[in-house]
Amino acid sequence: MSTPLLPQAAATLARAGDAVRVLDQTALPHAEHYATLATLDDAAAAIRSMRVRGAPLIGATAAAGVALAMQADAGDAALAHALDVLARTRPTAVNLHWALARMRKRLTGLAAAERSTAAWDETLSIWAADAACNHAIGGHGLALLTAMAERHGRPLNIMTHCNAGWLATVAWGTALAPVYMAQLQGLRPHVWVSETRPRNQGLLTAWELRRAGVAHTLLADNACGQIMAQGQVDVVIVGADRIAANGDVANKVGTLLKALAAQACGVPFYVAAPRSTIDFACPRGADIPIEKRDAEEVRVVQGMQGACRIAPQDTACANPAFDVTPAALIAGIITEQGVLPPAQLAGARPQS
Ligand code: MRU
Repeated sequence: MSTPLLPQAAATLARAGDAVRVLDQTALPHAEHYATLATLDDAAAAIRSMRVRGAPLIGATAAAGVALAMQADAGDAALAHALDVLARTRPTAVNLHWALARMRKRLTGLAAAERSTAAWDETLSIWAADAACNHAIGGHGLALLTAMAERHGRPLNIMTHCNAGWLATVAWGTALAPVYMAQLQGLRPHVWVSETRPRNQGLLTAWELRRAGVAHTLLADNACGQIMAQGQVDVVIVGADRIAANGDVANKVGTLLKALAAQACGVPFYVAAPRSTIDFACPRGADIPIEKRDAEEVRVVQGMQGACRIAPQDTACANPAFDVTPAALIAGIITEQGVLPPAQLAGARPQS
């Protein structure tokens, strides 16, 4: 795939000899650090600690984790162990399981001596496919945004949540791919970025947009309804961690509130995701496992000066990392195959 105009500032992950170099997202937006993953445990820890995050990037890193494991020991027990360790890193993003299923299928029937090379081949093919899918998502989203901008006769105000930009993928991003393409086409979009407490992935989005020269405004999560009610949002586009067969979408916690506000304010609400995020084995959103993260993420805010405690350690906290937006609130799912109404997802089901 040719991506000559890619507005991406760095590689989220790249093969570096027998290791993988990843951009450490826990240091952003204050510092640009890279980490080297040399072993299965390094890859699993990077996913768990959210040094790499975002559904497609979690899948891409998990594939690399299997390749790293096969370099050390390509036996059947080692393969089973690697698949098991990586599958248990984070529960909600189904791209993780999609990537591991691809690795299992490619490696299972091979002799141990062939596995390391095959594992790297499959990993690089998963990475390339992710970049290509996101590029296609960007094209379909761009068509949508172009038509909308023509109707409004002015640059669009787009709201997003969390980070579904290139940082969350191998390249382009999902929800932000159409935004980058709109910018490259001269449509001059403006993006409302919600901070996305408690992990503040919105700051990653603001960092990306700033580097790409896209106009944007950072908002406290609680301000989004007011901005929509004032008519300052033309469209909402978010990413997804898992989409159930009925079109219900799990994404970063706070997405549901945006979808409800969008419906109340008459703002179209879109989800952008590759087909690897659709879980046809999961009938409804209620069946999607929602990650419960450490309560300390709610009590302690991370900033440029380090950690800042904002609530006593014994304050009871709940920290669901994702929520589920019902299909009925979603105008369309922007996939690499085009924009699908959530009720028609079955049409995107792979043949095999
Ligand atoms: O907990 P995170 O930061 O991994 O959650 C990320 C999200 O919820 C994204 O919106 C989603 O994975 C889509 S990324 C293209």
